[in-house]
Formats: sequence, structure tokens, C-alpha cells
Amino acid sequence: MRGRVLSFRTRPEGIDDRASYLYAEDGAVLVRDGRIVAAGDYPQVARQAGEGARTVDHRPHLILPGFIDAHAHMPQMQVIASYGAELLDWLNTYTFPEETKFCDPAHARRIAGLFLDELTRHGTTTVAAYCSVHRQSAQALFGEALSRNMLVVAGKVMMDRNAPDGLTDTPQAGYDDTKALIAAWHGRGRLHYAITPRFAITSSPAQMEMAGALAREFPHLHVQTHLSENHAEIALAMELYPQARDYTDIYASYGLLGARTLLGHCIHLSEREADALSDAGAVAVFCPTSNLFLGSGLFDWQRYSRRGKPLRIAAATDVGGGTNYSMLRTMDEGYKAIALQGEKIDPLAAFWQITRGNAEALSLAERIGTLDPGSDADLVVLDARATPAMRLRMETATTLAEELFLLQTLGDDRAVAETYVAGRPLKGALAC
Ligand code: GUN
Ligand code: ZN
Repeated sequence: MRGRVLSFRTRPEGIDDRASYLYAEDGAVLVRDGRIVAAGDYPQVARQAGEGARTVDHRPHLILPGFIDAHAHMPQMQVIASYGAELLDWLNTYTFPEETKFCDPAHARRIAGLFLDELTRHGTTTVAAYCSVHRQSAQALFGEALSRNMLVVAGKVMMDRNAPDGLTDTPQAGYDDTKALIAAWHGRGRLHYAITPRFAITSSPAQMEMAGALAREFPHLHVQTHLSENHAEIALAMELYPQARDYTDIYASYGLLGARTLLGHCIHLSEREADALSDAGAVAVFCPTSNLFLGSGLFDWQRYSRRGKPLRIAAATDVGGGTNYSMLRTMDEGYKAIALQGEKIDPLAAFWQITRGNAEALSLAERIGTLDPGSDADLVVLDARATPAMRLRMETATTLAEELFLLQTLGDDRAVAETYVAGRPLKGALAC
């Protein structure tokens, strides 16, 4: 396909860091059998493609690796826009009742399909997703992802306390269901299983033991959970685990802190906790629309990324605490959350984050997040003139960095002209 091609090599050190990315003004990406064969200048790629290759012309749009969302909740599509609560009340009042509905496989299948449709509409080609406690919910999401050939990381939530009837498992059932789901789905197509204890508050010590046992048995799998999101949550977690030094120590003491651990939020970490994360190589997942919506606090991007031992950071929507499916909207809110703390994230770093940066955070950069030859052909095509307001603002934009910042600040699903998953255009086929 032909268009303006952009892919990151390293994290940009500023908007003048030209070496950190590949950009071809008249560019092309050559795709064969769902993989990228070449990306770069059109004449060169066209020569490599040879006669008879079909060209899809996306000029003057940008072609980038598909966006990656490092943390979202599939069963919370009908929780978004629930008014007036902080985290623990929001969970009890809105989220847990909604998630109980996912014991119904038909409901789970319907929402799982709509969830992947919505991500596709917004240019997101990979998500690290939480399902509900019910194994049917994970089966539904994996089934839908497999049928679209999407690279999805997901897991059934493990939770055995502090939740309503119908939304808990037991330590043994959580272990058995997780193991059965791993056997059934992990490694099929492009699917990855993530061991998913929801958070310390909804898992008993016995369940945390089981989650740790799974992490030891399957050390190559992701672990995903929540950490240090709001003050009431931290206080309750410490009450429930009085022997722990701090919230991070709860997960560490059960063997759940490693280089494939994705920790949602990480807003109120002490220096000791930040050290523990960076020593383990664990990933702090920045969820700005959720943190602002629930009033949880401001993720200290600057402190975490500039400290002596920097943290690995990912960015995510956290739908349905998060308020938008779009990684463009996410980075717009992220920019503001960072600005409130006196710092700025530049647009090149923002686009690195939602492509290659998140792929590295998920330890999947060999497969996704770049246009490197051999990568899976997950792509997003962006139109910076998608709306009248964007078109007008584009009249005065003269650089790539300005265009990216405009896309991030004014863009949403309307700016996504097409989304390719493993080489197949999926967005165009969706009903509006
Ligand atoms: N902590 C535990 N569960 C959740 C959840 O579903 N959303 C958010 N934002 N935080 C959580
Ligand atoms: Zn979450």
C-alpha cells in the first residue's frame, strides 16, 4: 500500500530526533501473507514488489503500525459514562453488576465482538484485555479475536472476595479455569493468555498463591493487575495484607512482579515501590482518561521516566473507567495530565508510545508496533484532514510533528481511514 509511511526505531528524544524514526513522504508498505515484507520509499518498495502486485493508494494519508492498548476491560463497554463515583464505589455500584451479566455466553459473545469492532474503528490492532471472572467471557473474546486473526492478550479475571455473588470464583476454580483457558487458547492464531488476578482487594491470600503458582508454571505468560490507583484502594489493600511493606510488596511477595507484569495505574507509588518495579522490569500502565474521570490522580510520567532507574511505561484506555476507545484521545488526555505537572510529552514520543513503545512494554516488539520487515501487518491509516476543524488547522501545519500533534489533539475514530489486521482491511468492512 502506498502513502506517507511512519515507523519508530527508538524512543524519540525530542521532535528533532530524526534518527529515531523512518519517515517516507512518498512511501509504501509491502505486505504478503499477513506480514510486512518491506517499508520505505515507494520506488524502492515498488521495485521489490514486482509486476502484478496490487497497490492500495492511501495518499495523502499516514500509514503507521496499528495502535496498541495496554489495558482495557472488555465487559465494561456498558459501564463507560457512569456518573459520580471514585474507584471503589464505581466498582461496586456500576462495574461489578455489569460484569455479572457475562456468565451468559451469548451476552459475552455479543459484547466481545462489539469490543473488537470498536477498537478496530479506532485504529487499535492489539489490546491487553481483562475479561470477567467467567471463563465464558474469555472464551468469547478469544474466539472473536481468533476469527479476525488479531493479536490479543487477555485473561479471565481471578477474584474470590469483596464482590457480589455471581462474580467470584475460588482459589481452586480460578486456577483450574485459568489453566484450562491457557491450554485451549494461548498460542492459537495470534492469541496470548494473561494471568489476571483483578487486584489485591478482590483476591484472598490463597488466590494470590494460586496466581503466583500459575506465573511460575507459565513464566512466558503476561500477568496483568491493578496497582496504586487511589488512596482508599491503597488503604484497603494494606488492611487486607497487613504483613506487606506496601501495595507493590503484596504482588512481589506472591511472585507476581516480573518483566511480563502489566500494572494498571501506578499513580501513588513510593520511591521504594518504583525501585521494585524497575528492578523487576515490570510495566507501569498509564491510563489518563480513567485517572481523570475517576479522579484517581496524576500519573507522574516525568518522575517515572527520568529517575535513575526508569520504569517501563505503557499507555492504555482502561475502558470503561477510561472514557474513550481511541489511543489518540488517550494521548491527548495524557498530554494534559503530564502538563498539569509542569512537563510536556512531545508528539513523536506520544506516537512512539502507542505503537513501538507499547509493543516493547508488552515484550511483543518482534511481532507488532513497527513496520520492520517480518512484522505482522497490523497497520493504521490516519487522515489528519478528517473533519472540517482538522482540515482548517492543517492549513497552517508545516511539519510532521505538528500534524501528529493535531491528530492527537483533534483526532478520534474519524481520523482513522482504515485499520489492517494481519494485512486485511477490517475497518472498512464495519457498519457505521
Ligand atoms: N481496579 C480493580 N478493578 C478495576 C477496574 O475494573 N477498573 C479500574 N479502573 N480499576 C480497577
Ligand atoms: Zn483497569
